[in-house]
Amino acid sequence: MINELKSRFRESYGANPSVITIAPGRVEVIGNHTDYNQGPVIGAAIDRSVMVALRRTEEPIFKFSSAGSAVVKIADPVKPQNGQASWINYPLGVYNALIRRGLEPEGGFEMSVESDVPSGAGLSSSAALELAAGKAMSEAYGVGLDSYNLALASREAENEFVGVPCGILDQGVSAFGKAGHLVYIDCRDFEFSTIPIGDEFSIWIFNTHKKHSLLESMYSKRHEECHEAVAQLKAAGLDITCLADVSPEQFEERKSALDSVVSKRAEHVIYEIDRVKRVQEYLKNGESAAVGKLLFASHASSRDQFGNSVEELDYLVKILESLPEVIGARLTGGGFGGAVMALAGEAFTASYAESVASAYRGMFGEAPEVIECHIADGVRVLESRLGAPSY
Ligand code: GLA
Repeated sequence: MINELKSRFRESYGANPSVITIAPGRVEVIGNHTDYNQGPVIGAAIDRSVMVALRRTEEPIFKFSSAGSAVVKIADPVKPQNGQASWINYPLGVYNALIRRGLEPEGGFEMSVESDVPSGAGLSSSAALELAAGKAMSEAYGVGLDSYNLALASREAENEFVGVPCGILDQGVSAFGKAGHLVYIDCRDFEFSTIPIGDEFSIWIFNTHKKHSLLESMYSKRHEECHEAVAQLKAAGLDITCLADVSPEQFEERKSALDSVVSKRAEHVIYEIDRVKRVQEYLKNGESAAVGKLLFASHASSRDQFGNSVEELDYLVKILESLPEVIGARLTGGGFGGAVMALAGEAFTASYAESVASAYRGMFGEAPEVIECHIADGVRVLESRLGAPSY
């Protein structure tokens, strides 16, 4: 991938980049819609990533190139783009977030992007782009942001510039990923830590390529319903500021006071937070069967309470649950289409994955894309010629 990136950069701009960075996509292992409710979440960075090549220029023009698209040139980096060029809002948003963190906006830059993170699969290709672009800018402009600040700046870009009210999961995992480890995020205090996971585990993605036409508004709707749940629980006598403040016991005592839809959304989030905490404990003790049960329970709760699954995802999880080689499986990410992730042991091989795919094809007429992932490191610089003589 790096060679394609370098050649595209040279073709687009007739020069070599001064810095090349990489940031991984991620799977959400467990913690569905817990992040913006200030609960914990566990994810893993995967070996599917976005690479960014960048060179600063004196001319105050910003240029972007990616596979299959003409070079986009803009003079006003503060203005979000519409239509075909809207993908550049991710790096542009990060550029603006970095200005608020000390980047001196002098001149312009040339940027090329290469990615093997499938988009629309719930694997956070956009967060990977934000992190890789942010790291490249931070290096090239000498801002020197650490992973923590890069994650926060990238989320700010997504919330404020792109306009998606996501939590910190995607950017946090892409920033703090570590091979052989899962990333645990406490989204109340923005604390990032890693949990070692044995080499015997693999992560399989079954990407349905289905995407709800109202995906973004459905996500925002869930966000609002969770806020509404907080308001109704407060009215029912709880002194809370977010759903992460509510224990399952407190919820059970008050749930009859809530509207029925709001109650289901809150039930999902409150019990999901509890599941994440239990998974963390089970992982520490190597109790993988117990982890797997909670992954399946998480999916059932998405399906029945949170309403963010679709029948294709339910079908995949049902088949995966019937295979003893699979430890656990669930929809990964926002939902409303996208992909299922399965955590499996060594006994689960490509031929098992193929049999799952062919059962799905029998049912829905088209096979899902199957991706075997390995857990990878987070954002980093791959090559740098900063400080070297110009060439
Ligand atoms: C998307 C968002 C994340 C998180 C998940 C659901 O991936 O970007 O912040 O809310 O959905 O858990």
